[in-house]
Amino acid sequence: MEYITLNDGVRIDQIGYGTFLIPADGSTYNAVKEALAVGYRHIDTAAAYFNETEVGRAIKDSGIPRDEIFLTSKLWLQDYDDAKVGVERSLRHLGTHIDLYLIHQPYGNVGAAWSVLEDYKAKGDIRSIGVSNMTPAIWNKYVPQFDTKPSVNQIEFNPYCQQKEIREIMEKDNVKIEAWGPLGQGDKELLNDPVIVKLAEKYGKDEGQIMIRSQIQDGIVTLPKSTNPKRIKSNLDVFDFELTEAEMNEMRGLDKGHGKHDPDAPGVEDMLRKAFVIED
Ligand code: A2P
Repeated sequence: MEYITLNDGVRIDQIGYGTFLIPADGSTYNAVKEALAVGYRHIDTAAAYFNETEVGRAIKDSGIPRDEIFLTSKLWLQDYDDAKVGVERSLRHLGTHIDLYLIHQPYGNVGAAWSVLEDYKAKGDIRSIGVSNMTPAIWNKYVPQFDTKPSVNQIEFNPYCQQKEIREIMEKDNVKIEAWGPLGQGDKELLNDPVIVKLAEKYGKDEGQIMIRSQIQDGIVTLPKSTNPKRIKSNLDVFDFELTEAEMNEMRGLDKGHGKHDPDAPGVEDMLRKAFVIED
């Protein structure tokens, strides 16, 4: 594994195992245990994934010392007005401290929620705090008012969506990108992109591994998703080769400047609030 140090001194593994859409019917427990068994030490969940309890149990039952695992979760929109309720719920469900806790969606009472996260960071229940899905416009609306700068912004990122504008803004405060959808969420055009196919052939890797490798070399924390046990394992097998600077520039040249999700679009906040409601 390779690691980066966040702007608050906390160390994070550059590849994490994401648990979005894995049901809490035993599947999350099994998937996280399997991910830990094949070598992942960074697990990413969220209150709105409804599977924090199984993630917490899998970590506990893995027998791996807790301080060898990096655990991320996220506060959901409905809790921003009284964020303590949301943080306490996450801590209760997970049954352990949280290494990184994010404001999951950048709408509503973000400032109040952020202050509560700062308090929990000071107390040590949460080691690092960050944001998610912030575009330049949203960043400029909220972040200048924060006392503590976020350590990360978890956003859509893949070779066709390289987020150059927000990256430049974030670099001023040494805020790292965490990539969700780093393989383009199954985008066939991306998987068949001639640059990526060529590099995969050259290094004897698959196209997903090339994308993951390029993200690691670019200082990004990446959260590739797979339901295929072989790929869950092989997506970690990216530390025995290195793309040249010219190849990295080819990868950087694939950017189309936008992704599938537009957090600035009207109606997104409403859609999200209705789509996920946490009961307890
Ligand atoms: P599968 O679950 O069959 O492995 P993202 O991480 O951007 O959300 O993308 C997830 C998609 O990418 C899933 O469809 C997943 O399929 C596929 N995928 C995961 N790993 C690889 C890989 N190494 N190469 C190609 N496709 C991959």
